[in-house]
Amino acid sequence: MRLDKLLSNLGVASRAGCRELLKAGRVQVDGQTVRDGAAQVSEKAAVLLDGTALDTRLARHLMLFKPAGVLTAAEDGRQQTVMDLLPGVYRSCGCMPVGRLDKDTTGLLVLTTDGELAHRLIAPGRHVDKVYFVRVEGTLTAEDAAAFAAGMTLGDGLRCMPAGLERLPEPDTALVTLREGKYHQIKRMLACRGKPVRYLKRLSMGPLRLDEDLGPGEWRELTAGEIQALTSA
Ligand code: URA
Repeated sequence: MRLDKLLSNLGVASRAGCRELLKAGRVQVDGQTVRDGAAQVSEKAAVLLDGTALDTRLARHLMLFKPAGVLTAAEDGRQQTVMDLLPGVYRSCGCMPVGRLDKDTTGLLVLTTDGELAHRLIAPGRHVDKVYFVRVEGTLTAEDAAAFAAGMTLGDGLRCMPAGLERLPEPDTALVTLREGKYHQIKRMLACRGKPVRYLKRLSMGPLRLDEDLGPGEWRELTAGEIQALTSA
């Protein structure tokens, strides 16, 4: 990649600003001062700005504890999006949410620069299991669990794959496991059962669990082990 593009993708400055930094001799690549923005650099190059090493990894993978009230979108003219919760560098390097959670849904959201990985995790027919904690109005019954297990047909005729509904000790709560991601799926399935959703939180996606040390709105990069597990999910 061109050096000026790499620097601006990393959020150092605008493309023009990066060319100024280069001209001023403030950037070193593998021990040499480089002033030409068109110089090609690899991801493995040691790039220093004013003597400080930059983290040049362009592949980024994060988990975010999405809070309620925030849109799962790259950007929105009016409303706060999940990208607004992250440092600008993640936007500059092209990090995107993997799938969608509704505005009022909370919990695990993966963001990645790896479009292929994102596609593999959400492409129809290849979906990995996603587990949600749900609280409803009313009481969840064995019949609700059986209807989920059988695969439901929603009011508009949309067919859902068999899904898990594991009732928890509080009678209005359950763990729901989906293998697909249709629009408002859990809310619509439970509405069909006459049990409107009051609270929904995603706990896991395939092998990846929401880190219990994260609070709403907090995020962290995935570990190498987590990336490996997701890639082979
Ligand atoms: N099902 C829903 O209804 N909403 C979500 O955000 C995720 C799954």
